[in-house]
Formats: sequence, C-alpha cells, structure tokens
Amino acid sequence: MIKTRFTEMFGVDHPIAQGGMMWVGKAELVAPVANAGALGFLTALTQPTPEALTKEIARTREMTDKPFGVNITILPSINPPPYAEYRQAIIEAGIKIVETAGYKPQEHVDDFKAHGIKVIHKCTAVRHALSAERMGVDAISIDGFECAGHPGEDDIPGLILIPAAANKVKVPMLASGGFADGRGLVAALALGADGINMGTRFCATQEAPIHENFKKIMVESDERATDIIFRTYKNSARVARNAISQEVVRLEREGRPFEDVAHLVKGARGLEGLISGDTDHGIWTAGSVVGIINDIPTVKGLIDGIIEQAEALIRQRLEGMLTTLENRSSQAA
Ligand SMILES: Cc1cc2nc3c(=O)[nH]c(=O)nc-3n(C[C@H](O)[C@H](O)[C@H](O)COP(=O)(O)O)c2cc1C
Repeated sequence: MIKTRFTEMFGVDHPIAQGGMMWVGKAELVAPVANAGALGFLTALTQPTPEALTKEIARTREMTDKPFGVNITILPSINPPPYAEYRQAIIEAGIKIVETAGYKPQEHVDDFKAHGIKVIHKCTAVRHALSAERMGVDAISIDGFECAGHPGEDDIPGLILIPAAANKVKVPMLASGGFADGRGLVAALALGADGINMGTRFCATQEAPIHENFKKIMVESDERATDIIFRTYKNSARVARNAISQEVVRLEREGRPFEDVAHLVKGARGLEGLISGDTDHGIWTAGSVVGIINDIPTVKGLIDGIIEQAEALIRQRLEGMLTTLENRSSQAA
C-alpha cells in the first residue's frame, strides 16, 4: 500500500484516479475502478440529461459501495449544456467528490463546497492551479502536454509542469498525462505529486465501454500515434492519429476556420465510431501514453500491477541504488 495525502483525503486505498472521460466514464468502468481501491469519476456530460446522470450514479452504486466521484467539464460551446442542472443532480445524489475541468469553475466550486463536496480541479498550467487553489478547491490534478484531451496552449510536458506546480501548490496534487504503470507512479511521487490521474490507460482495459478495435489500436500504437488538433483555434486537443485527425490538421494548416472542420469533429460522429468499431470514422481522444500501453488487462489487474511495480521499484531498484552508494563510501573510507 502506498499512502499519500491523496489517499488520506479521499479515503481510497491507492494514489490513482481515473479522470472524467467523455463517452467512456460510465458505471461499467467507474465501479471496477472503485472496487479496485482507486478513485473513478463518472463523466456528467456523457449522460444526455441531468436525470440520466442521476440514474447513472444509482447504477454505479449498485455495482460498488466504495467512494467514486463525478466529473463536470466546462468547455466553450455554441449551445452550452445546462451546467447548473447537472451540478444540482450531482449534489442531490449525495456525491461527495467532484472533478471539475475547464473554464471558470468558480460558481460550481462554490456550490459544491457549500454542500460539503470535495473538489479536485483539473488544469494544465501552474497559474490555473494556483487560481483554483485560491477558489478553495481541495486538490489539483495537473495535465502535462502529453495528456489526452485538452493540454492547454503552453506545451509544457509533465516532467517540468509537475515539479513546477509542486513548488507552488499547497493542496494535494495529482500528476496527470502520460501515466500507465508503476514507473510513472513512482516518478510522479518523486516529482512532488500525491498520486496519478490516468485516462487513456483506463480505455485499454477489459471493462472500458468502447469497441475492442480501439483497444487493439492503442496496444499496437507507438508514442507518435497522436495529433494535436484545434491548435489554430486556441483550443488544442490531443487525439488519436487517424484519417480524420490528419484531415483536420491539413485543413488547419491551410488556415481554414472552425466551420470548415466542424462536420469532421462532431461529438456524435466520434461516438458512432466508438460504438461501431470504425476507428477512422471520427476523432477519438488518446494521449501519447499509447506508446507504453501493451496489453488490455482488467481494471483490477491494472491497478494491482501498478502498485506492485511501484513498490518493487521503491524497495528494490531505488533502495538498492542507495545501498550501493553507501557501500561505495564505506569502501572509500
Ligand atoms: C477518451 C477520453 C475522453 C476524455 N474526456 C474528458 C472529459 O470529458 N473531461 C475531462 O476533464 N477530461 C477528459 N479526458 C482527459 C482525462 O480525464 C485525463 O485528464 C487524461 O486522459 C490524462 O492523460 P492520459 O490519457 O495520458 O492519462 C478524456 C480522456 C480520454 C482518453
């Protein structure tokens, strides 16, 4: 067992979270994550209505009695979803942990905090982490440039972003983006984080509710198999490289406006692909970490494996190196 400020604060066995994932963060994935002792998040906006979210929370509770949370992602949108109603559904369902992500979370944070809910805010820059801390969030999750989804516009990889944030953030912090195994967990802890948040790695598990073809492609992919799209619209997103992402990149290079790519990147189109198994039908979110995903384990197998590998690394490899140094100095004396 690895105990950190994160495990203590959120009452979970392991310093591992499964962040919100559009179309993937459903009961089928979140319950096994909770049962394995990590912290899973249902994705509020994956449910078509706040009422459907209430039902999904109840469905998850039938599958686990361990803690789990709900993610609410606030992104710029032409027709914004009814955020306040989703928030209300989360509060009324008695959820105790929320992951917020995206722009201007203040009113949501205030309301969740007023109802005794712990908030982890996910962000991509030290300055945003500090502003969330000032807003009163309980913990931060910080996504490096390698992450799946929205890495922001600063392009700072985790190796710099995590210690830079750890230097300044006082509340517990999860390192996010690029984590898949025990090596990553130990590295994150060494860099000053209190645990890791993973997205892509959880998509390549037996329980992830997406078509097997996506899981197989992730296993076959190397670390170059993603594209950054929407860079020219200042809303960068890291997605799996496929026919559609390449077309979007090409159109953006030509300087085309968003209207010219909108039909390619529609959420509904991505969802159709995830269901049918056509990996070139729409865009789908994945991080550079696909390059170190080599299998499709169960969620429990994945989490147990990460902890075992991390413990072995600390006890044997790292501890062993210290002993060697001590031996050397005693030999020298
Ligand atoms: C399929 C998929 C969908 C995602 N959707 C969301 C989302 O709706 N809201 C959100 O805050 N993050 C979303 N993310 C980001 C993850 O929560 C997490 O921050 C990210 O995957 C971490 O990087 P990693 O994939 O390298 O582990 C998504 C990630 C994936 C893989």
